[in-house]
Amino acid sequence: MKMNQTRQKFLNYYQEKKHVIIPSSSLVPENDATTLFTSSGMQPLVPYLMGEKHPEGTRLANSQKCFRSNDIEEVGDNRHTTFFEMLGNWSLGDYGKKEQLEWVWGFFTKEMGIAPEKLYITVFAGDETTGVGRDEEAIKIWQEIFAREGMEARVGERIRTYGAEKNWWSRSGEPEKMPEGEIGGPDSEIFYDFGAELGIHERSKWKDEECHPNCDCGRFIEIGNSVFIEYVKTAKGFEPLAQKNVDYGGGLGRVMMAVEKKQDVFETSAFQLLREEMEKITGRKYEGGAEEEKVGWRVIMDHMPAGGM
Ligand code: SER
Repeated sequence: MKMNQTRQKFLNYYQEKKHVIIPSSSLVPENDATTLFTSSGMQPLVPYLMGEKHPEGTRLANSQKCFRSNDIEEVGDNRHTTFFEMLGNWSLGDYGKKEQLEWVWGFFTKEMGIAPEKLYITVFAGDETTGVGRDEEAIKIWQEIFAREGMEARVGERIRTYGAEKNWWSRSGEPEKMPEGEIGGPDSEIFYDFGAELGIHERSKWKDEECHPNCDCGRFIEIGNSVFIEYVKTAKGFEPLAQKNVDYGGGLGRVMMAVEKKQDVFETSAFQLLREEMEKITGRKYEGGAEEEKVGWRVIMDHMPAGGM
């Protein structure tokens, strides 16, 4: 399945679940001085996550164009891009964790046809800075989901817990970096496993360490993140928001890596037009080329779409 069909399937899936499809906002944020560019689908929705009524209701979904300048130094590897589309759905004080995690699972396993064995989960381990404990509720829901598939999802194996550096989300990043008034919360990410049999980890510079979903070796790729935006940082610490929200985002290019089983996002249909155009101009092929040469191709393929926005 190609990128355009995948995007449409996602939007149809959430429309069937009573979400209103909203347009992608401008890459340059309006009425938001916290960042230079729109870097996630939730950013234009912050006032509504904080309780203001959204004109389209409490269930929203879209595909938002995003730009993350902080990833620019990483561009050139197989998966980092500064500009990307993010598939997103939101509950503005409507449904909770159970529906969200069930729906993420349904999207990837039923709509995208990804085998359950290829999927791994991470959840928040809890920490003292936020005073928020380990996400037992998410663990329980995931274990029930895997049990239905005939799989036992043990914590430390199929489900991994990480601290705030990996499983807490806010626009500003980790809890310490959040200014007063900023909203955020624990999250649960879903990873696609390219497979131990490929020996990706063993050939990487992390080969002497244990491999796990957040390992940088590239065996696993994060394809979606469900953030439970339930807290606001105040002078007194973290306090629960009156409105409990869900903020889901999945980079469309990353999703295509799992759907098309490509270890390189630049080989997916997300970059097909640009890749083919560059191949025409240069008379060379991207796939099968030398790794050093690919770095230049990737930088151009990444920077072109953002420049055109
Ligand atoms: N805001 C979260 C992210 O950008 C999920 O949408 O990853």
